[in-house]
Amino acid sequence: MSRLDSFIRRMQAQREILNQTAAAIADLPGPVLEIGLGNGRTYDHLREILPTREIFVFDRAVNAHPSCIPEDKYLLLGEVEETLGNCDDRIPELATLVHSDIGLGDPEGNIEIGRWLSPLIDKRTASGGIVVCNLELTLSGYKDLPLPEGIRPGRYFVYQKP
Ligand SMILES: C[S@@+](CC[C@H](N)C(=O)[O-])C[C@H]1O[C@@H](n2cnc3c(N)ncnc32)[C@H](O)[C@@H]1O
Repeated sequence: MSRLDSFIRRMQAQREILNQTAAAIADLPGPVLEIGLGNGRTYDHLREILPTREIFVFDRAVNAHPSCIPEDKYLLLGEVEETLGNCDDRIPELATLVHSDIGLGDPEGNIEIGRWLSPLIDKRTASGGIVVCNLELTLSGYKDLPLPEGIRPGRYFVYQKP
């Protein structure tokens, strides 16, 4: 498979999973956390499919398309290790959907990120909330949710908190 094919598949998988997850949390109250603003593509999609939700966005810097930059109130700048662990004042409610799209190209680096990211995400997720992540997390007691049809296992991970 060419790198172009692989990129397209990854983007399609992201969109499918976000659409499926947005439908699944429709009746649950609570904000959304977007970890990794990047270009702002998934943030833009989330705000389109969840227009009434508060979406809080984490990144170390803003490099998004100008049309996809959240208002200051919803933007938490800095290292996720710090900002996600200390956001109670800014985000009092636990999240009903957490989408995380940070990580490195190498599996070792992703394992290390998963190690510190998992407890931080767990602390900020409401009961019944769904966590969507591009790398594997260790979330004790969470249920692994099935990926939409056609998405290769290991490309994305979807968990639901009991
Ligand atoms: C792959 S991009 C996200 C792409 C985004 N989902 C989109 O659709 O455009 C990952 C982003 O995570 C941010 N990031 C990675 N590790 C981080 C960390 N430890 N703390 C804060 N931001 C981080 C990077 O700055 C980058 O903007």
